[in-house]
Amino acid sequence: MTKTLLLGQTLSFSGNPLRGPWEAVSHHNSAGAILIADGVITDIGDSPTMRAAHPDADTVNYGDALIHAGFIDAHMHYPQTRMIASWGKQLIDWLNTYTFPEESRFEDRAYADAVAADTLDIALANGTTTLTSFCTIHPQSVDAFFEAAAARNMAVVAGKTCMDRNAPATLQDTAQTAYDDSKALLEKWHGRGRASYAITPRFSPTSTPDQLDALGALWAENPDCLMQTHLSEQHPEIAWVKDLFPQARDYLDTYEAHGLIGPKGLYGHAIHLDPREVDRLAEVGAAVVHCPTSNTFIGSGLCDVMGLARKAVTVGLATDTGGGSSFSMLRTMAAAYEIGQLRGDVLHAAQLMWLATEGSAAALHKCSQIGRLAVGAAADITVLDLAATPVIAQRAAQAETFWDQLFPTIMMGDDRSVRDVWVAGARVTGTA
Ligand code: GUN
Ligand code: ZN
Repeated sequence: MTKTLLLGQTLSFSGNPLRGPWEAVSHHNSAGAILIADGVITDIGDSPTMRAAHPDADTVNYGDALIHAGFIDAHMHYPQTRMIASWGKQLIDWLNTYTFPEESRFEDRAYADAVAADTLDIALANGTTTLTSFCTIHPQSVDAFFEAAAARNMAVVAGKTCMDRNAPATLQDTAQTAYDDSKALLEKWHGRGRASYAITPRFSPTSTPDQLDALGALWAENPDCLMQTHLSEQHPEIAWVKDLFPQARDYLDTYEAHGLIGPKGLYGHAIHLDPREVDRLAEVGAAVVHCPTSNTFIGSGLCDVMGLARKAVTVGLATDTGGGSSFSMLRTMAAAYEIGQLRGDVLHAAQLMWLATEGSAAALHKCSQIGRLAVGAAADITVLDLAATPVIAQRAAQAETFWDQLFPTIMMGDDRSVRDVWVAGARVTGTA
């Protein structure tokens, strides 16, 4: 069995740094080592001790670079890769003007294959080893994504986006076909290799109550699956939901009334929540996925990440591309920091790194498998050069602590900062 020893600075966590003093649960080792065998992490420790303990291992020495768990993007839309950075619209106009026409192209399997491959390669180049993606209403768009991920041995989550109203006719299914197609795809993909299926109603405005019921029933039959959707992203959207569901107590209730709330629920954005919605999300153990570059790009608002964390709501981090304006989880962490500042909350580098790795893994209920530098976890690893550009290098050179060295890369880094990526113990990119 080949064993590989990675040497460098290491960062790991033994708890959630958003729920207590970050110092108590954040572990940095300036001369750390990770042992990989059979695709998983089998040992972690100090470089000198690990070198002595594993003299037969192949060694990759990253020097001063930072070895940490691969980034996990907990909410994105691979069919929107070709339309990222589309100008000048807010949510509903943006969907109608740019998103729906682009998603119509995924009827063509060859087009879906090409975009899926590009998206996964862009993600890997950015140090992101797991994506959680909405697909389109076309089942072939789901096959394309899962096949492209399997070819790269990546752990991914995805599902067929279901819509049976308020979308172009070519992008609509029905309550019955949404159920049937989702069920067939779930049975084909969930648990196959590193794939997980997520039941995926796009959002309440594009599903009739009948469709929400059908997908709620499918989830009840398959409670092991995740369910992903959008929640309370923009004020005009929320007003529209009120009109469409006059009997609902609030936006979350439009899901709750149809069986679409539960511990494996992933609610993207969740910016403008009522207190009842926050309490209910915490009570059921559901997760909010924070999408900060999207929230500023589409003009949605400032998610109260620290308030949610204080209420014990699980929070993951995501790009939401193509509503988000970057595939980089570094840029995404920078935007989360900036949104925190605008709310009067200062997120520490440890909290940002946790959100982009273990926080997202916790939202996906996959902490035992991904998102952690821990023995037994998959060897999905990203190595960051903490001095990748001249401006970052000159700032990092002034640093007196590791966190001060890391923060300029969080704020100013991108794919240029990614020195290397490992997926299930196989090296994908880079040079030591
Ligand atoms: N709400 C419903 N669909 C979408 C989408 O594709 N992107 C974003 N940002 N919000 C949505
Ligand atoms: Zn989204």
